[in-house]
Amino acid sequence: MEYRQLGASSVKASVITYGAWAIGGTMWGGSDEKEAIEAIHASIDAGVTSIDTAPIYGYGKSEELVAKATAGKRDKVQIFTKFGLVWDSTEGEHFFDLTENGKTENIYRNAHKKSVIAECERSLKRLNTDHIDLYQCHWRDHTASLEETMEALQQLLKEGKILAAGVSNFTADEIKEANTFVPIASNQPPYSMVLRDIEKDVLPFCRDNNIGTIVYSPLQRGLLTGKFKPDHKFAPGDHRASQPQFQPEFIKKTNAFLEELKPLAAKYHTTVGNVVLNWTIHQPGVTVALVGARDAAQAVENAKAASFKLDAADLEAINNSLKKLNESGVLAHS
Ligand SMILES: NC(=O)c1ccc[n+]([C@@H]2O[C@H](COP(=O)([O-])OP(=O)(O)OC[C@H]3O[C@@H](n4cnc5c(N)ncnc54)[C@H](OP(=O)(O)O)[C@@H]3O)[C@@H](O)[C@H]2O)c1
Repeated sequence: MEYRQLGASSVKASVITYGAWAIGGTMWGGSDEKEAIEAIHASIDAGVTSIDTAPIYGYGKSEELVAKATAGKRDKVQIFTKFGLVWDSTEGEHFFDLTENGKTENIYRNAHKKSVIAECERSLKRLNTDHIDLYQCHWRDHTASLEETMEALQQLLKEGKILAAGVSNFTADEIKEANTFVPIASNQPPYSMVLRDIEKDVLPFCRDNNIGTIVYSPLQRGLLTGKFKPDHKFAPGDHRASQPQFQPEFIKKTNAFLEELKPLAAKYHTTVGNVVLNWTIHQPGVTVALVGARDAAQAVENAKAASFKLDAADLEAINNSLKKLNESGVLAHS
């Protein structure tokens, strides 16, 4: 495993970081607690040292599972969590409503100082820890000035409750402004072989300004493992059913592209999914790939993505195949 520094902060992360969204269950058709804890244990055993979670993932459940799985191992892991998406107040900017199991939650973006400070206390409690290694603004709340949001992070840094400040889903201009109030260690945007919007300006801005980039959904939520057939039926409540990348035509074209990666997977004695992840962590400016795993088998496999390095000729061949895929009109935009 390789470990990389997040910007100018003191925090180091494993290049494959465990993503704890799916294990929270919401939007993923539920999750199995025992398998989730085994997945985190298997990741740590395989050299993964950082774990990304958020209060909104299962309305606290993901953070609680991370606490259970890291009990007795806290000094070996970096915990990244987030703030700014709330379901228990209507202050801030309405984001979306989520109905699951007959219950609707109204989700608001709230990054006002008082709310951030209160959220941090709740996360520390759920995570059963005295500090958060990286505390990220999940989504920009346009009803709060960046100055106010960053003031909260400044205070939490000073109090030692967080070790580094980060943002997520921010534009380049927003990162630039936030960075004038508090040193921003990292941004967390979506990025995969089939979703590359950040290459235009967000990624170059962070690369040029020594701000880390922790990319999320690098397997495009499992699609880039090649395991989905065009007629796949998702479990009730799994958000992937309605995503553009999981519509039959998209799956068909993506699978044809993934077929072209199979000889490379064989050459490096690995899986197509790990070729995808290895390509991702070697894109200029990408610091860390955040990968979700439901169980220990997925976690062990994903951790191996950092155990080899695609050579320059193979990276170029992949880029040529991706160019063809792009020309077929299949690439998605966030
Ligand atoms: N900041 C944000 O707004 C934001 C948004 C999204 C995600 N994230 C973060 O990024 C993390 C990763 O993103 P993600 O979970 O959306 O997508 P992902 O990592 O691209 O895909 C994860 C899913 O793919 C499947 N999978 C993973 N490894 C596999 C393997 N080896 N073989 C077969 N299937 C495999 C699993 O689902 P199935 O087994 O059910 O197919 C897993 O839950 C999240 O957990 C979260 O921490 C952040």
